[in-house]
Amino acid sequence: MHACIFIWYSYTMDKKIRVGILFGGLSAEHEVSLQSAQNVIDAIDKQKYEVIPIGITKKGKWLMGNESELLLNSNDPKLIALNQVNEEISLVPSCHGQLSNNPGAVDVVFPILHGPMGEDGTVQGLLELACVPYVGAGVLGSAVGMDKDVMKRLLRDAGIPTADFLVYRSVDDVDGLEVEAKLGWPVFVKPVNMGSSVGVNKASNESELYEVVKEAFSYDTKIIVEEAVEGREIECAVLGNRDPVASIPGEIVPAHDFYSYEAKYIDENGAALKIPAELDAEKVEEVQGLAVRVFKLLECSGLGRVDFFLQPDGELKVIEINTIPGFTKVSMYPQLWEHSGIPYTELIDRLIKLAIERFESEQSLRTHLFWAGDPTGNDPDGH
Ligand SMILES: Nc1ncnc2c1ncn2[C@@H]1O[C@H](COP(=O)(O)OP(=O)(O)O)[C@@H](O)[C@H]1O
Ligand SMILES: [Mg+2]
Repeated sequence: MHACIFIWYSYTMDKKIRVGILFGGLSAEHEVSLQSAQNVIDAIDKQKYEVIPIGITKKGKWLMGNESELLLNSNDPKLIALNQVNEEISLVPSCHGQLSNNPGAVDVVFPILHGPMGEDGTVQGLLELACVPYVGAGVLGSAVGMDKDVMKRLLRDAGIPTADFLVYRSVDDVDGLEVEAKLGWPVFVKPVNMGSSVGVNKASNESELYEVVKEAFSYDTKIIVEEAVEGREIECAVLGNRDPVASIPGEIVPAHDFYSYEAKYIDENGAALKIPAELDAEKVEEVQGLAVRVFKLLECSGLGRVDFFLQPDGELKVIEINTIPGFTKVSMYPQLWEHSGIPYTELIDRLIKLAIERFESEQSLRTHLFWAGDPTGNDPDGH
């Protein structure tokens, strides 16, 4: 049956919508993703949705099991792990969410995956091929949001303030004199396609630069070197497709030199979240307006968290967008919505609806695999 008709049918017939929760994955944020997934599974409206948990191992295998046996030590963030005994599965291309082990199809997928091979358009491409609606940005928005060089070039082109930067594609090209002349010291060095501050380092002089550049190139084939920005770190959540809305802003107050991997995940007191951020009404409006602009400019949909620096002179600079931000109950994205009047369970519900809405509008395009407007109503594969 045509997927969007089926989803509509599910709503009207009070049949539960089957939501594939995709989590774990190959990135450094594997454990964060397990916690996010556990939180989403606990909080999702079980009257409306049937959860199909699909855990991705650190080697990339997709495992399906029931909720109670998929995770080990699910209550301990330090020991939480995927239970490897579950059945290996895959998604079948062009079959409306059909899983290879054939226990039926999933009607919609919620990818809670961070970093490369999850947040960067790769999984999103697979979900497109499997012809199933999914939460969050599509292939382009995901890829653009992940590549800090392309993202910043688009921001710059639109006149949105972001830190000045240089791009290098090999260690040999890195030129300390050029960095000093164009950006001054210190600078931040980042692999373009990572997240969680992995491979992000500060360099205060030429010799430190050459050191940290080597580390950044161990994660990626392209890096950026960015001028250091002074200021408070402000984050704003965005929700929606064509007419997205912004939450109240929050603030990250790192206890370390910057919001490093250690401050994010290793040191329990590495950073404090201040919600709402102490800002005057005018600044709140400016942050929200800019967050929505960035979200649209970077071709995002569903959800996104836009991160800023608020400099001492009052000027805002965009650091980056995260197209699948952390989603544990205490993560910034859901907390910002909670404080803006959308509780966690409702947020999940809205995101799933947005996924279905986007899918349905794309299904009606003539270029689509099963064009809904085909006057013959025929499935080209004869199913
Ligand atoms: N240009 C900069 N100036 C000052 N601090 C920075 C700069 N860029 C990054 N940082 C610090 O490093 C952290 C991680 O950088 P970010 O670009 O957000 O990478 P990631 O995608 O890994 O989160 C930021 O939250 C901030 O604390
Ligand atoms: Mg960041």
